[in-house]
Amino acid sequence: MDIETPASVVTPAPARLRHYDELPGPRAYPIVGNALQLDSRTPHLQMQRWCDEYGPIYRMRIGKRRAMVIGDHALVAQVLRDRPEGFRRTTSLERIWAEMGMPLGLFAVNGEVWKRQRRMVMAGFDPAHVKRYFPALQQVAAALARRWQKAAQQGQAIDLQADLMRYTVDTIAGLAFGAEVNTLETEGNVLQHHLDKIFPALNRRLLSPLPTWRWWRSAADRELELGVAEVNRAVAGFIAQARSRMAAEPNRRERPENLLEAMLAAADAPGSGIDDEQVSGNVLTMLLAGEDTTANTIAWMIHLLWRHPAALERARAEVRAVVADPACPGWDEIAKLDFIEACAHETMRLKPVAPLLVVQALGDTTLADVQVPKGMVVTTVMRRDSVSDQHVPRAAAFEPERWLGAGSGAGSGAGAGEGSVAAVAGSARRISMPFGAGPRICPGRYLALLEMKMAMATLLGRFEVQSVDTPDGQIAQEKLAFAMAPVGLTMRLRAHPR
Ligand code: HEM
Repeated sequence: MDIETPASVVTPAPARLRHYDELPGPRAYPIVGNALQLDSRTPHLQMQRWCDEYGPIYRMRIGKRRAMVIGDHALVAQVLRDRPEGFRRTTSLERIWAEMGMPLGLFAVNGEVWKRQRRMVMAGFDPAHVKRYFPALQQVAAALARRWQKAAQQGQAIDLQADLMRYTVDTIAGLAFGAEVNTLETEGNVLQHHLDKIFPALNRRLLSPLPTWRWWRSAADRELELGVAEVNRAVAGFIAQARSRMAAEPNRRERPENLLEAMLAAADAPGSGIDDEQVSGNVLTMLLAGEDTTANTIAWMIHLLWRHPAALERARAEVRAVVADPACPGWDEIAKLDFIEACAHETMRLKPVAPLLVVQALGDTTLADVQVPKGMVVTTVMRRDSVSDQHVPRAAAFEPERWLGAGSGAGSGAGAGEGSVAAVAGSARRISMPFGAGPRICPGRYLALLEMKMAMATLLGRFEVQSVDTPDGQIAQEKLAFAMAPVGLTMRLRAHPR
């Protein structure tokens, strides 16, 4: 694993290190610290603005919890690479996750447990596995098309993000667990509704200056408990189904058909160190980590394309030239959608759905001229340099063309962490890290790109987009609920006569 360390990080050793108390930063108030200055829907925007005001390293405090915030992409890459030894995910995340009644999975764990789980999960996400499950993705895309066809025929506006969440939940369930949940064609109390409560609650608690939920349970806390219980039931159901498939066909142990079967086979091996709790934790993690992130990115992409008609036209022309039967786009065809993939990377540069990553120092260390003591929380602001003209030409513009050529964005650049690096001077590729970086880079990134391309092939191959609207006609507002979502996007479609 290697990622490029941009030249700007190689600075001479500073004569004297600054301490937390010497850093600039917004004024912290007694007890709450800076919590009240952060709108829980848009803390990332405030932290980004503070980067402009206080520079690439500043301090802040949420309640008693002190944090350093960094915005310089080279420092961000340095921190993210220095895992698992130098930095971990925070103890607060682990504690709050567990308090919500959820078993821990890859996203939240650390140290040796993380290493073991990471190996297990990576094996399930290798491209050969994903390719084997491609037919499941084709089926989910067909269900999405049926849902949109119905809306088009009835002249109904589509709640874009909600539909895409159904698409991503169905995809993960099919691909990773071999389960057909079909939330796309089921109305009512579906799994996805329960999942949707979890991330906002996690986000609220992480940013809360006081752990009020430990003292009394509000109506929202009780609703959350019910949601978590439902999701845990669904997870247990996926596991039971997989176990009975494996009992009926024992050769699945040697040749697991999906991520869940691979995890169960690993857990059952003597001395594996993986128990059922960890398997459940990872089923839940895949559902959570794979849902909002991918759905929101596709929603942002459709929104940005609608606002850039020339790019939309080029994307549509590509789909129609490459995909012979839009009712069933093939693996090789999806692989050829280079411009659509470029649109995805450009969307993630401008609208990264994970605009903040939070880690914690495992020992005393330094960042530039700042001493970082053991236990310090470090929040990385992921979208400072990637939208700055100093680092990216015409940084504010949506120009997917900048991503064409010089290899796939998922496997190159500072955002990759695995595979070779194409050093493209002054390019967004080095700076934009939508999937994180280093050893804990998102293991689902190839799957996510595949899902995005499949959704776009379905949309542009089968429909004419009539409008993508926001409540106020402006660019959609951002709302952070662990993943950053566009607010209030509705889409109208007409079925494409072909
Ligand atoms: C556009 C879609 C996605 C984006 C932008 C995204 C982004 C991210 C980011 C920023 C991280 C943190 C990386 C770091 O700490 O350096 C992450 C971690 C993770 N993602 Fe994704 N993700 C996406 C889709 C998915 C999908 C589809 C899955 C799986 C089904 C997934 C599973 C995970 C897991 C398990 C982790 C934790 C990895 C670890 O801590 O070792 N993600 N993702």
